Amino acid sequence: MSGALKQGMLKLIRRRFRIASSKGNAMAKIVSVHSFRGGTGKSNSTANLAAAIALQGNRVGIVDTDIQSPGIHVLFGFDENKLERSLNDYLWGRCGVQATAYDVTSALKGAGAACSRIYLIPSSLRAGEIARVLREGYDVGLLNDGFQDLIRILDLDYLLIDTHPGLNEETLLSISISDILILILRPDQQDFQGTAVTVDIARKLEVPQLLIIVNKVLASFDFTVLKAQVENTYGAPVAGIFPLSEEMIQLGSSDIFYLCYPDHLFSQAIRSVAEQLIGESVKLSF
Ligand SMILES: Nc1ncnc2c1ncn2[C@@H]1O[C@H](COP(=O)(O)OP(=O)(O)OP(=O)(O)O)[C@@H](O)[C@H]1O
Ligand SMILES: [Mg+2]
Repeated sequence: MSGALKQGMLKLIRRRFRIASSKGNAMAKIVSVHSFRGGTGKSNSTANLAAAIALQGNRVGIVDTDIQSPGIHVLFGFDENKLERSLNDYLWGRCGVQATAYDVTSALKGAGAACSRIYLIPSSLRAGEIARVLREGYDVGLLNDGFQDLIRILDLDYLLIDTHPGLNEETLLSISISDILILILRPDQQDFQGTAVTVDIARKLEVPQLLIIVNKVLASFDFTVLKAQVENTYGAPVAGIFPLSEEMIQLGSSDIFYLCYPDHLFSQAIRSVAEQLIGESVKLSF
């Protein structure tokens, strides 16, 4: 794509979606979790952050925009046989977006405040429906309308968007309408290069707040030095350095780590990022 064309496209996306995004609850924050490459820990980090934020008495929505390879529902023990409506149905005009939202607050196992809520908007797991998206695409503008409707109808405080890795139309959309963009990378040269591309795009799309998380960091690394290096490379704050955790590998996305191992270094880092997102301290016990 030529530089001028890219600039024009970015401007168009920005104008189109920023105007639309002014419709929703002004207090709600949209947080996109993205990485240039796959397997960095987006879905696990999103689910854990959602839990930490909800435990503080917030109403949190999670949209799985990884339509090609959905997965975050697994962390909430979501029974895929109960999946009657998905984000796909909304995008194809079969139902309103609220009909695709499932209350998964029970994943908090009774912890949190009376008003704590987590709603999950899953993507379809049906092979035919995934193939249809790949074949026909959909109107990404509808996705933005859907986000705003969710915030309004479910009275959300936070809407977290779990994304597909790499850059595509819905990634550009979610980046452009985010109040906060979290970019996740591993300490890996391929991730370092790819993240530079995404940081560049996020700046062009004028994302209000860009935060970086470095995940799967070996305990033998000096976290303070790594943080300084990454901040220096991208000129953006590192909100957290998450350790590579054997317990996390063992858990294998079968549960929400933060709730299972609240005192673990990984959970402490999640808590610290959650604090930065909500601007208040997060209780240590729940
Ligand atoms: N800090 C960590 N320590 C150990 N394992 C981790 C850590 N973070 C994530 N994982 C594991 O890495 C794998 C990928 O994580 P996850 O699915 O969250 O990544 P993703 O970025 O959403 O992947 P995709 O790009 O495919 O959507 C999972 O098996 C998860 O348990
Ligand atoms: Mg994922």
